[in-house]
Amino acid sequence: MAAPTPFASLPSSFTSRFPGGRLTSHASLSVRHLHLPRCSRTASCSPERVEFKERHGQGEVLAAGSKGLIAMEYAELDLVDKVCYEVGHVRIRPHVNPLNSFFTVPVEVPDWNLVFKDAKLPLMVDIGCGSGRFLLWMAKRNTDTGNYLGLEIRHKLAKRAEHWVGELGLHNIHFMYANAMVSFQQLVSVYPGPLTTVSILCPDPHFKNKHRKRRVVQKSLVDSIVKELAPGGQIFIQSDVLDVALDMRSQFDARSKCLEHVNVSHPTIQCDEEGWLLSNPMGIRTEREIHAELEGARIYRRLYQKRSGNS
Ligand SMILES: C[S@@+](CC[C@H](N)C(=O)[O-])C[C@H]1O[C@@H](n2cnc3c(N)ncnc32)[C@H](O)[C@@H]1O
Repeated sequence: MAAPTPFASLPSSFTSRFPGGRLTSHASLSVRHLHLPRCSRTASCSPERVEFKERHGQGEVLAAGSKGLIAMEYAELDLVDKVCYEVGHVRIRPHVNPLNSFFTVPVEVPDWNLVFKDAKLPLMVDIGCGSGRFLLWMAKRNTDTGNYLGLEIRHKLAKRAEHWVGELGLHNIHFMYANAMVSFQQLVSVYPGPLTTVSILCPDPHFKNKHRKRRVVQKSLVDSIVKELAPGGQIFIQSDVLDVALDMRSQFDARSKCLEHVNVSHPTIQCDEEGWLLSNPMGIRTEREIHAELEGARIYRRLYQKRSGNS
């Protein structure tokens, strides 16, 4: 049986408090969006995966490898891996160095009214979105209630994701080839609607001490996120590398004047003794998450909410 997501167990007072309550209507949209009323399953037991497991057994799930599991997890998107002549073959390369001068030029900010059908809808930004499947899945589920922006520093990944947007005929999602460390603030500060969700999921770990400055979560990005997020808006972070998760966590925990972890405001949301969320609140796993879990890794997750009265 599917374990409930943390948000599925929220008391009704939680959702009913939003419209006229302490938090803004932006917050209401954001929480509803993460509350995922249309998807109560946890990410690790997608129907496709459960069905596959029942038919073939755990051995074959392992044999399917992460590529097979990703295909199952995202079956409803029905995307073709090798896409088109323009994009060509997408080879996953080792981490890029975002501090390289090549990546330090800010991207041009598009006219959001031309990008999205309704540029006033609440916006979710996924920083380091990789292939973009995760965000495409979110956008497809919420076509009328939210806009989605994926920022990715590897050009071909962003280009292929944008190609998929066209294939799926979605008007509420956009992918950009951008270094989030350089361009996040400019991009979101002129977005006409509220920024309600930011996700940073399994960012590149840059293990060596001398390379830690290349990690995407740096003070300047945290400052920008906290500044631009609407009151009640949420920040979801996760990593399969404890050191990376702790590094991100310490930077967001340090902003406790503006941010609180969701289990403080909503005690029914469960964390373990160390404060990591017990399950994935998004209803779908990212590709890196699938791969890491297949290898037996644990995913460390935190979900922050911007305090109301902080704009
Ligand atoms: C390990 S992958 C994780 C991808 C996806 N979030 C997932 O969980 O499957 C990290 C991604 O972040 C991208 N990335 C790294 N630094 C970035 C930056 N400064 N700005 C935008 N994207 C970045 C990488 O190119 C890579 O695709």
